[in-house]
Amino acid sequence: MTMNAEPARHSASDIERAARLSVAPMMDWTDRSCRYFHRLISARALLYTEMVTAPALVRGGALHLLDFDAAEQPVALQLGGSDPFELAQAARMGARAGYAEINLNCGCPSDRVQSGTFGAVLMRDPGLVARCVMAMRDATDVPVTVKCRIGVDDQDPETVLPEFLARIVAAGCERVTIHARKAWLQGLSPKENRDVPPLDYDLVMRMKQLFPNLHISINGGVDGLDAAVSLLDQGLDGVMIGRAAYHQPWDILSNADAAIWGDVPRARAPEDVAHAMMPYAQAHVDAGGKLSQVTRHMLGLFAGRPGARAWRRTLSEHAVRPGADARLIETALSHMEEARAA
Ligand SMILES: Cc1cc2nc3c(=O)[nH]c(=O)nc-3n(C[C@H](O)[C@H](O)[C@H](O)COP(=O)(O)O)c2cc1C
Repeated sequence: MTMNAEPARHSASDIERAARLSVAPMMDWTDRSCRYFHRLISARALLYTEMVTAPALVRGGALHLLDFDAAEQPVALQLGGSDPFELAQAARMGARAGYAEINLNCGCPSDRVQSGTFGAVLMRDPGLVARCVMAMRDATDVPVTVKCRIGVDDQDPETVLPEFLARIVAAGCERVTIHARKAWLQGLSPKENRDVPPLDYDLVMRMKQLFPNLHISINGGVDGLDAAVSLLDQGLDGVMIGRAAYHQPWDILSNADAAIWGDVPRARAPEDVAHAMMPYAQAHVDAGGKLSQVTRHMLGLFAGRPGARAWRRTLSEHAVRPGADARLIETALSHMEEARAA
């Protein structure tokens, strides 16, 4: 679990291929333990970090936020910020740490983020976003990408989205992920902003027709691998999945390598992944971490399967206890087997 000092580089085209399916950046969820776990299920999908703010890196010197394990690759670092100079420095730090892509958050609606002029509020200032992208591009040699909404508040997405895309493409943005709904910056919580504003996939499809050379990933409400494959079949370049990948990682990710990249299907069961997490979990505990910080991401591994409740309950009740170690994963598996046999 060391930070990779000499990072294995992926070429821009490798990352573009990986971006056919990605797991969304999710604060407090897609930390390095979560990404390590997801990587054991899919060798191919592009994984995103949680948002890391440029001020935290540049002014706060919080370099530990960049730590990750080389086994997680390909991983994209998502940055939050709106100061081109600071974002350029943060992008450079991210590229040096070995991230395969640097992504700018233009979609997050939370108050804290608005007050720092990060996230979705940037949809109102495409000129500033373009300057940020340009500065980040100049600072690094890894792809610079943007994750955005279709608009905010009373904006008309039909007009603002194409203008936004034209500006960021001209600035050198190599790929964009569009969360296919507006964000309401007043009146809705971040959680409501992920469900209440209606999805408009058609608009994203039309953007692909308007910008045929821009790699466009769609995000929002994709609840299964079949849905992702169907969106790719309709001409989109990539699909990003957030909550479903977190809550049902096996269903979403285990067949992805075969279904999306044509790999030979691997004969594996979710139990194999649980076992494969044990050395990682133990190393985390041995380094002074809590087992629950790793196992909390694994609760959904058996979602929808017999015994899933026993698995979840064993991990969530016991992983927080003092002295809990990786053997709990085996205990949880045996409780699940017992529940299945009962
Ligand atoms: C717990 C949580 C945290 C999130 N944090 C971020 C974030 O840091 N950056 C970001 O761009 N989006 C963030 N999002 C939004 C997701 O990336 C994604 O756009 C959204 O969940 C819609 O996709 P889905 O319907 O597949 O979940 C977060 C979502 C959740 C559920």
